[in-house]
Amino acid sequence: MPAASTASVLHQVPIELGDRSYPINIGAGLLGDTATWTGVPAAAQALIVTNTTVAPLYAAQLERAISGRHQAVHVVALPDGEEHKTWQTLNLIFDALLQKACDRKTVLYALGGGVVGDMTGFAAACYMRGVPFVQVPTTLLAQVDSSVGGKTAINHPLGKNMIGAFYQPRLVVCDLDTLATLPAREFSAGLAEVIKYGPIADMEFLAWIETNIQGLMDRDATLMAHAVRRSCEIKAWVVAQDERESGLRANLNFGHTFGHAIEAGLGYGQWLHGEAVGCGMVMALHLSQRLGLVDAAFVQRVTALIERAGLPVVGPALGAHRYLELMQVDKKTEAGEIKFVVIDRPGSAAVRPAPEAMVREVIARCCSAA
Ligand code: NAD
Ligand code: GLY
Repeated sequence: MPAASTASVLHQVPIELGDRSYPINIGAGLLGDTATWTGVPAAAQALIVTNTTVAPLYAAQLERAISGRHQAVHVVALPDGEEHKTWQTLNLIFDALLQKACDRKTVLYALGGGVVGDMTGFAAACYMRGVPFVQVPTTLLAQVDSSVGGKTAINHPLGKNMIGAFYQPRLVVCDLDTLATLPAREFSAGLAEVIKYGPIADMEFLAWIETNIQGLMDRDATLMAHAVRRSCEIKAWVVAQDERESGLRANLNFGHTFGHAIEAGLGYGQWLHGEAVGCGMVMALHLSQRLGLVDAAFVQRVTALIERAGLPVVGPALGAHRYLELMQVDKKTEAGEIKFVVIDRPGSAAVRPAPEAMVREVIARCCSAA
């Protein structure tokens, strides 16, 4: 007799996009449970896209759980790391699909963090002009942000996430159990994106994170379930209103203009994405204060929380010239004018340009000396 399932969906957050709507299922023991996958489109073939770190941890479990839904389940393990979010690595997914003669109904399962998720989504958008895919995020960052909302991309040496597509998954499955194997540094990086939702959208959530930061760092299961749920709810609300980032969705990039410059400037993979975003939020807060939008106490409050989450709050010494050069290559830049997501009042964000002298002051205030 098969063992009774211990899987449980604790929360379901819908992404409302008309006929492209899908659920985010958040819970425990989901990955290895066949019931988790019943909503996935029927297809003869499936390809699990993962990486060399995650494959030995979770690929066999997922493969077993979905084997009843597909006649053949293939696995491709990509090299691990932000520095591999490239055309060359993307091609490994296409190689696997073509070598196995996968047809246009083939389902791709993205098993891993944001790097695997973004690349798998982009491959799914392109292969035969579009095949279905499912997000199975295994990092905190991917569960609270990157797996949700359909942004897919690879990096270019000159700019982060510059080549990509909007392409929605059919289902997102956040199995909180997978977070148990996540290294501490990666966990903190994920907390940066959780904290982000407070200043831009929900001051009650910010206060809740402040109260519970130690429990979150200890990965308390109940607290984690709430943090993932509330983050996904906020992101779902934003994406439903502005899927293709013509306005509101840009607010989700709070900290990212400075953060992407840090990542590209140091070389992808030196600072984790979440670390760069955490420090980028500190810089964007200082910019907001200089623009007269928030006071010093608010900047200090959020900075202290970012620090308590184990994240760096002092930027690397790239020099103001290099920061400005890198920030020119940003998706919000228009006609050469760099734009920043600023906090226009606690719990609300807006996209604004800023005088170059002010940006230089922020870099001088927030970064190590070049
Ligand atoms: P990542 O994908 O590199 O994963 C971090 C590390 O953790 C990797 O070494 C990975 O192999 C490992 N790992 C993954 N799951 C694990 C587990 N359960 N146990 C042990 N190790 C595990 O990084 P990330 O922080 O998940 O994602 C960052 C990426 O996401 C960036 O490329 C960023 O641009 C992208 N992103 C995209 C969006 C979006 O909307 N599409 C939003 C935010 C970030
Ligand atoms: N992480 C930013 C977005 O999804 O728009």
